[in-house]
Amino acid sequence: MRAALRDWGLAEIEDSAVLVLSELVSNAVRWARAPVGREIETSFCRGAGGVRIAVDDADETRPRLRPGDGTGGRGLALVEELSSRWGVQSRRGVGKSVWAVVTVPGGTWMAPWDGHNRRESL
Ligand SMILES: Nc1ncnc2c1ncn2[C@@H]1O[C@H](COP(=O)(O)OP(=O)(O)OP(=O)(O)O)[C@@H](O)[C@H]1O
Ligand SMILES: [Mg+2]
Repeated sequence: MRAALRDWGLAEIEDSAVLVLSELVSNAVRWARAPVGREIETSFCRGAGGVRIAVDDADETRPRLRPGDGTGGRGLALVEELSSRWGVQSRRGVGKSVWAVVTVPGGTWMAPWDGHNRRESL
């Protein structure tokens, strides 16, 4: 992902994007009690002003921001801080996809897969 972000001229969000990916993967490994053979999938996708990162797992429980009580709960707080938006959607089949969009400062996410190039204001 680092190399891709550099190629895409998005080096300035490289560290934030890697942190977000790392927190989401840590959560999937730690919290999603995925059945054997159901692996965690990671993907990322370029938008005009940033990158959308997704980590899919095979567990139906949805992650929730939890108040910091000194025993954890820092991961999603960090994702919330570093991303323009994040969320959870159902995955085809079993499980869910936790996603986050990291944009360049002041940037606007423009999804590449959207045929009309609809702008989503953040
Ligand atoms: N992929 C996931 N599947 C199921 N539950 C999740 C998942 N990710 C997070 N959660 C739930 O959301 C809570 C908040 O996640 P968060 O990353 O903020 O904290 P944490 O993982 O408990 O601690 P830390 O990230 O600080 O080590 C978790 O405690 C867990 O209950
Ligand atoms: Mg965590």
